[in-house]
This record gives sequence, structure tokens and C-alpha cells, in this order.
Amino acid sequence: MKKTYYFANWKMYQSFAGIDAFLMEYATDNVLAADADVYVGIAASYEHIYYLSQKLENSSLYLGAQDCSQFLHGAYTGQVSLQSLMQMQLSFCIVGHSEVRQLLGQSYETIALKFKVLLAANISPILCIGETLVQKEDGVTLQILYDQLESVLEFLQSYQGTTKIFIAYEPVYAIGTGVIPETHELQEIFYFLQKLVKELPVAKNIMFLYGGSVHTQTIGLLKNLEGISGFLIGKASIDFQALKKIVECE
Ligand code: 13P
Repeated sequence: MKKTYYFANWKMYQSFAGIDAFLMEYATDNVLAADADVYVGIAASYEHIYYLSQKLENSSLYLGAQDCSQFLHGAYTGQVSLQSLMQMQLSFCIVGHSEVRQLLGQSYETIALKFKVLLAANISPILCIGETLVQKEDGVTLQILYDQLESVLEFLQSYQGTTKIFIAYEPVYAIGTGVIPETHELQEIFYFLQKLVKELPVAKNIMFLYGGSVHTQTIGLLKNLEGISGFLIGKASIDFQALKKIVECE
């Protein structure tokens, strides 16, 4: 059976008390850790990462961040350096999430730079791409996805490393709305994305994820998709029981 990756993007939803409750349930019902074909990663906010890392020693949950600076260190107020991510031994880091793109106005080039520095540090990037509803209605979805990937694809032509790379398709209109695209639309998009990476030297290390309103009611449909390796889950993932149902759904 192929390994399935579940990344919980806790965004700014979680609290210290919420983490304690989550970990308590995780400790007593260790189903998420029991299966070697299941990978569960938590993308926590920075103040929670350290807290979690203290509590998760010897656990099979993986830890990651929701964004990072493209710079190693220096005068960058409010940013979090790659060095700290390395020191915290994080496994992965999300870059280019649409909420960050919108809030902080990060350019494609900045996001590509973050992607590159993460790979240089052997931390798996989860690069988020996705179109807005207007762009979808204008029929430019594939063009937008290509534009968001272009610099990264160029860089990957000559990248020879072995770090796993995740590309998460998260249509902006599906995030937090309960609406997911039609299966045939998703399938067309994932075929398109796979074609784009197929000739790259590291193609076998590139995995695709779907994100946007993944929860207990939608996961059944989404698990039928071909060519994806897992899911990036927002709101539903802060609730241990919901996350467990998503992982266990067949
Ligand atoms: P929701 O699962 O809350 O729709 O969020 C998706 C997301 O943005 C994951 O990165």
C-alpha cells in the first residue's frame, strides 16, 4: 500500500490548552502512529512548535512550520529564520499558502526563494498553489497554477537532492468554505501538475497533496482521487477525533 501523507495546518486556530487536549487523546488512542503507511505532520505556529517538540519526543507525529523567512539570519523584524527551523529539527515547512500570499503580498519569486532555501536545509517544502474563484470562472486555472510553479520548476531542473517535495493544490475558494471542486476538475488539475514535473530529475520525490475543506464529510470523495499522496487539512485538523476519522476513512 502507498504511504499517505496528512498534514495538519493548524493556522492560528490552536491554543496551548487545545494542544494539551489533542495530545491527551493522541496518547490514549495512538492510531495515528500505529500504521507505517500513514504519515501525520503538524504545521503549528512558532510558539507552539517548541511546546510540541518538548511533548512529542519519541512520537511518530512530524512537526513543521507554516512559513519561514527566505533569509538565514539578520535584520528582519518579525520573521523566523531557517536556522531556527533547522535547530528545532522540523521535517517540513509550508510556503506560499494563499492566506500568506494575500496577507503579506509575497511574490512568486519570494516564495520560490523560500522553497529553495528549505531544500538546501533538507527540510521538505510544502508549496501551496491554487486559483481564486474569479480565476476559475475566467477559465485560467491551469495558467495560474503554471505561473505559481514556474520559478520552482526552473530551479528543480538542476536540483539533485533527495529531500521530499510536496506541492499542495489548494483552490482559494475551497479554503474554509466547505466547497470542494468536482472530482473531474480535480483529476484534470492533478494530471496537469504531474505532467509538469514528470521529466524533472527529482520527479519521484515530488508528491501532490489536496487542501481546502478536507473534513470528515468530504474525505471519502477525495480519497478516490488518482495521483495524489495526501492532504493538507486546516480547521478539521485541530480536533483529534476529526483528524483520526480523516486518516482512517477508506
Ligand atoms: P480548511 O481545511 O480549513 O479549508 O483549510 C485548508 C487549508 O488552508 C490548509 O492549508
